Amino acid sequence: MPTVYLNGAYMDLSEARVPVLDRGFIFGDGVYEVVPVYSRRPFRLDEHLSRLQHSLDSIRLTNPLTVDRWREHIHALIRQAPWEDQGIYLHVTRGPAPRDHAFPAHPEPTVFMMPMALPSPGPDVLAHGVAAVTAQDNRWLRGDIKATSQLANVLLRQLSVDAGCAETLLLRDGQLTEGSASNIFAVIQGELTTPPKSHLILPGITYDVVLELATSLDTPVRIRHVSEAELRLADELWLTSSTKEITPVTRLDGRPVGDGRPGPVFRAFHTAYQEYKRRAMRGLEGNTSEHTP
Ligand code: PDD
Repeated sequence: MPTVYLNGAYMDLSEARVPVLDRGFIFGDGVYEVVPVYSRRPFRLDEHLSRLQHSLDSIRLTNPLTVDRWREHIHALIRQAPWEDQGIYLHVTRGPAPRDHAFPAHPEPTVFMMPMALPSPGPDVLAHGVAAVTAQDNRWLRGDIKATSQLANVLLRQLSVDAGCAETLLLRDGQLTEGSASNIFAVIQGELTTPPKSHLILPGITYDVVLELATSLDTPVRIRHVSEAELRLADELWLTSSTKEITPVTRLDGRPVGDGRPGPVFRAFHTAYQEYKRRAMRGLEGNTSEHTP
């Protein structure tokens, strides 16, 4: 099992333990991040760490580590992990305390980090795309916090598993918000269209990369609300995330999206994304934030 970090110590994953009264276990009172790593270099680490800071600020928990310490531990885990490409999972909870909804007066946060395998979307997904279903977005109104309390997302994601699909696209008040674990883009009349960042969706790091690629590819972008009817008539649909990169959705609720195959705009963005990853990862410094496509 890989080496993980827990509260200041490195250990084998099989040895990592947290007390049952940890508020992460009792209340899901914590936040997390998933940082993709390619060729042992973290991708957009600064952006992931600043989103982690936003999540911590939002739950009123002081960041237990400095940016330098986060970077140091992340790089140490990457070096020891068995994979060239991997995902680093970061997790901070409000720590152990007697069970009470109110914050403990002096929280001792639990900090956990582990490397995970990160398989890129395979040739079958790139050739045929994936199927998705829709569901009502019944989550809380703070989707911008990457909270470990993922119960609503878990239940929504399972709907797609039950239907043999890869993702659940969420609709709130007749408008697309995001996927259960991804952001969503639609190609509508030649324009790359995606809902604006708000308290209802996670501000995806991959979402930002896609918008930057759109500039370099001269693709018109519309950041605006997408109605359910528009979603169902879109020429192309993609989901984006650190683990799924850009994945084409070719069936929605059992009906083909566009002509039912990954579209030309997806192909152009997939190529550009892979090229950008390769270029950014050539930098010797793990921080690739300064690179733009
Ligand atoms: N999830 N929206 C939600 C609800 C997500 O959970 C995720 C990512 C995204 C995409 O964000 P990013 O591009 O920064 O990965 C959007 C991660 C991968 C997870 O929970 O495993």
